[in-house]
Order: sequence, then C-alpha cells, then structure tokens
Amino acid sequence: MISMDKKIKILGIVGSLRKDSFNKALMNYAMSIHLKDAEIELADISEIPIFNQDLESSVPESVKTFKSKIKNSNAILISTPEYNYSIPGGLKNAIDWASRPYGDNSFDGKIVGMMSGSGGYMGGARAQYHLRQVFVFLNMHPINKPEVMVPMVHQKINENGILTDETTKKKIEELLQALINHAKKLTD
Ligand SMILES: Cc1cc2nc3c(=O)[nH]c(=O)nc-3n(C[C@H](O)[C@H](O)[C@H](O)COP(=O)(O)O)c2cc1C
Repeated sequence: MISMDKKIKILGIVGSLRKDSFNKALMNYAMSIHLKDAEIELADISEIPIFNQDLESSVPESVKTFKSKIKNSNAILISTPEYNYSIPGGLKNAIDWASRPYGDNSFDGKIVGMMSGSGGYMGGARAQYHLRQVFVFLNMHPINKPEVMVPMVHQKINENGILTDETTKKKIEELLQALINHAKKLTD
C-alpha cells in the first residue's frame, strides 16, 4: 500500500554492462526527469555470478542486495539492448536469480515498464517481447503502452552520453507517467 505522502519507488535495471551503454543513457534520461511523486534508484547487476542452482543454499551478497531492492520497490523500469534477437544474458541471469529460490520470486506482482535501444531498425523490439514472455511466469504486470523502442539509438545520444532526441525523450516521459499511474492504481 502506497500512502499518498510517500513517493513511489522505482528500481531501474539496465541490461547492458557497457560503460558507454546507450541503454544506460536512456535510463539516465529517465532518472533526470523531475518526478514529484516517484523516485528511481538504479540496481547493479554487474557483480551477479552466473546462476547455478547449487549456489541457492548460499546466495551471493550481490543477489541478496538485488532481491531486497526489488522487494522494496513499487515498480521496475528496465532499459535493455537486444542481443541476438533476445534478452542479454546478464539481464536474464539477474532475473533468474531474483526469481529464486522457489516460492521467493522477488518480482511477484511488480509493475514493470521497459524500454530498449538498438543500433538497428527494430529498436530492440524482439528483446522486449521475449521479456514480456518472461514476465508472465514471474507474475509481473507490464505496461503495454507506450512502447519505447529506439531504433538507431547511437544517433540519438551525443558524445557525452546525453539523449538528444526530443521524440524519444517524450516517449520515456510518457512511459514513466504510465508506470507511476499503474503503481498508484494497483496499490490503491
Ligand atoms: C552480443 C550482441 C548481440 C547483438 N544483437 C543485436 C540484435 O539482435 N539486434 C539489434 O538490433 N542489435 C544487436 N546488437 C547491437 C546492439 O543493438 C548495439 O550494440 C547496442 O548499442 C547495444 O546497447 P548498449 O549501447 O546499451 O550496450 C548486438 C550487440 C551485441 C554486443
């Protein structure tokens, strides 16, 4: 339950670990937007080891931190590239860890918004649709519209890593608003 005077907590997850990631730049733009009723914190998935069910009995610290950040959030915002027409391995790995152990899926019931940027013309659409399939099993509530898929993303981020494309900025603002509205509705 979100009380009216409390800000909605959004956890941002970036699917690329690249230092100059364009998808990180999209997330940075989202984080730069002044929100009066919400705040975005960024998760770090770079230290999460490759999932091995044998490790579930002694969960790594990086996973414990990730799971608790998810649980403490009201909504999730993912910004990811598409790798080989799908979800980057690092992101899928982090999702798999957070969904475990059986019966302790940290994503259960969370609202999730997603955006993607790619160097091609599809803007990461295929990765987003694979993500949506994963969200079904995780029992998450994805935002359907707007879809933020940014084709030729490298042309929309300047040499300082700043998003410059006004249409993309507007779409990200709309997505954030939809995420916040849904988070409020679901917890009323
Ligand atoms: C392993 C790998 C697979 C890729 N596969 C795709 C793909 O399927 N579709 C696509 O549009 N771009 C693909 N790309 C290109 C990415 O869109 C591009 O490198 C993008 O900048 C990566 O996002 P980032 O800047 O956030 O790291 C791939 C890149 C890598 C490294």
